[in-house]
Amino acid sequence: MALQVRRLAFGLGAELTGVDLSKPISSDDRAAIQKAWLEHQVIVFPGQDISPEQQIRFGRLFGELDDHKAVPFYRHPEYPEIYLITNHKIGGKTSETKDTGRLWHSDHSFTTRPTMATMLYCREIPAVGGNTMFANMYMAFDTLSDTMKSVLRKLEAVHSMIHYTDHYLKDRNPEQIAHMRKINPPVAQPVVRIHPETGREALFVNEMMTSHFVGMTVEESHGLLKFLFDHSVRPEFTYRHAWKVNDLLMWDNRCTLHMAPADYTHEEPRHMHRITVLGTPSGRQLEAA
Ligand code: OGA
Ligand code: MN
Repeated sequence: MALQVRRLAFGLGAELTGVDLSKPISSDDRAAIQKAWLEHQVIVFPGQDISPEQQIRFGRLFGELDDHKAVPFYRHPEYPEIYLITNHKIGGKTSETKDTGRLWHSDHSFTTRPTMATMLYCREIPAVGGNTMFANMYMAFDTLSDTMKSVLRKLEAVHSMIHYTDHYLKDRNPEQIAHMRKINPPVAQPVVRIHPETGREALFVNEMMTSHFVGMTVEESHGLLKFLFDHSVRPEFTYRHAWKVNDLLMWDNRCTLHMAPADYTHEEPRHMHRITVLGTPSGRQLEAA
């Protein structure tokens, strides 16, 4: 059966059926997936029954996989390529990744090799909620005024694990946080990122990782950043995914943001296997590691 693409929202997102990710993928299918992904930014593959090896094999079709060195404590015990987003107990304690992604972000924008594609695979989901939301950052940029666009094209912004952990991951293990800060010094990213494959401009700041503009203070940056954070996620730029077990989602971190609302109870399991495909280098490190 040929691949079928069905759009899911005005902002972004499409469902792709007619492909079985547990089997080797033909080069034609790979090309069709790539095309749909660049066009719709978020692809949903429903009803995929795949093993960790099969997920890894699929991920490798698109590039080199991250072994999650920047966040080493949350990896699958047997597969470093798989990062566990789960509220299961691990070693007798509830996993620290249970509240992953509660603010809007782009994966690993605090590194100089931010994630290109994230592939998140749903193993268990609560009866209600546990959704993930996405926003189209091409649209966010395209809908700004020409004057604002030209101001933003000149700016870089600081993305850091320090900002991230100060305002968001406060309740995690302090030694592990200190280690992750040390190995991830602050990075300057362009505020407007040129997508390396489509050539389109996308806004590249996010409320989770971005603290201020390079050359400005936090206070000076605050007003404009707050406007950009709010503008980026206007409802018409978004898609909200209600997961079913065996959905695999693949999103493009170069032109989207995502977040996981706290719209469910941890009394019920939510268990995801994440794979991330490394992108081309972006940004520059501001201090030595
Ligand atoms: C991620 C992430 C959100 C979720 O996988 O990078 O932010 O819904 N996940 O689990
Ligand atoms: Mn994420």
